[in-house]
Amino acid sequence: MSRSSPAVADRLELGRHILDLADDLARWSEQSGALTCTFFSAAHRAVANQLREWFAAAGLNAGIDAAGNVVGRLPGAPPGTKTLIIGSHYDTVRNAGKYDGRLGILCGLAALESLRDARLPFAVELIAFSEEEGVRFGTPYLGSGAIAGRLDPSIMDTRDLDGFRLGDVIAAAGYDPGRVPAIARRPEDVLAYLEVHIEQGPVLLNGDLPVGVVTAIAGSIRHALTVEGVAGHAGTVPMDARHDALLAAAEIALFVERRAWAEPGLVGTVGRFGVPDGAINVIPERCELTLDVRSQDDGTAERAVADILAESEAICKRRGVRLSARELLRAKAVPCAPHLQEMFAGSIARAGLPVKRLASGAGHDAVAFDGFTDIGVLFVRCGNGGISHNPLEMVTAEDAGVAAQILRDTLVHMTD
Ligand code: GLV
Ligand code: MN
Ligand code: MN
Repeated sequence: MSRSSPAVADRLELGRHILDLADDLARWSEQSGALTCTFFSAAHRAVANQLREWFAAAGLNAGIDAAGNVVGRLPGAPPGTKTLIIGSHYDTVRNAGKYDGRLGILCGLAALESLRDARLPFAVELIAFSEEEGVRFGTPYLGSGAIAGRLDPSIMDTRDLDGFRLGDVIAAAGYDPGRVPAIARRPEDVLAYLEVHIEQGPVLLNGDLPVGVVTAIAGSIRHALTVEGVAGHAGTVPMDARHDALLAAAEIALFVERRAWAEPGLVGTVGRFGVPDGAINVIPERCELTLDVRSQDDGTAERAVADILAESEAICKRRGVRLSARELLRAKAVPCAPHLQEMFAGSIARAGLPVKRLASGAGHDAVAFDGFTDIGVLFVRCGNGGISHNPLEMVTAEDAGVAAQILRDTLVHMTD
């Protein structure tokens, strides 16, 4: 039987610890039998409190800000130095896996815990962002956007599907929504932003690699579409006299698929599709759907969205129904800073591993820092075929340990 070297055993132990913590966080959910943790739900507040406790136990000065971000600052920074921000998110999609977002927070925590007495030449903050997925209020990056000073104050009036106002939700949890603008950092005070994230795809898995360096994050354009037709009796209105909102929406969804297939690297998704107050014997009057289009190339995504909106109009006109489209997000593709890519690559090489560079199709909190500070993202292999936004999402203890050690090594070799 072969015996592991002490370094490998340490890494495994560290990785197991990280996965145990992720299991622990997954105990809190809004849904029984599934992991769902959206902005300022009871489960979300419980996760924030747990993270704050762990941050404090690891020796960080920890607190929760008005946007629900859990912030931990490594003590002992030399006065007047800039701050390196390490972050990722703790909210989830519905019926999520346990590692999207949280793996990065926990790798950051493991790295900083081991550096508590290291006296780095810059300040370090670990931030567990409250919101990245955009599930509850339809707008992503609420936590990281607040830190980067990117939130429009009018966002506080946004309502969730149950009619709750974002600002009121924050106030009801005991925080002051009026203080959100004050948590924004000043770009001149920030050294860089680093994020560790599960890949959420199969590239590293297929390449037999535990980690990879992200080169850029794909842009994304999102819309909320509403189709309005005419309600009618399912038994009496002849087929040629109908103005069925759902059927127009269905054609739109199929066109999204066809248009995305037409170009390599382009993806288009209708993630929500519903008939509010629909009934089995009523022709649908209204259908609401969402559109999410992404590409590494902004022009490709923009052209696809323009085509989809034009075709949607044509479909609705032909069927005698009305279309309205509201843009929710227009995020450009974001490049990772070459010098931070090199920092991660150096650490990966020092760990004796091959350096793989890859682009991210998923959005990450790092996007909120584009143009604010330099960003660097390290991907960790995603098991189970690379599945994510799914409870089958999986990472190994070995890979989690490797990622935490590489992040630590990057911090140790970073200069201010
Ligand atoms: C976040 O997970 C996104 O890419 O939608
Ligand atoms: Mn996600
Ligand atoms: Mn994520």
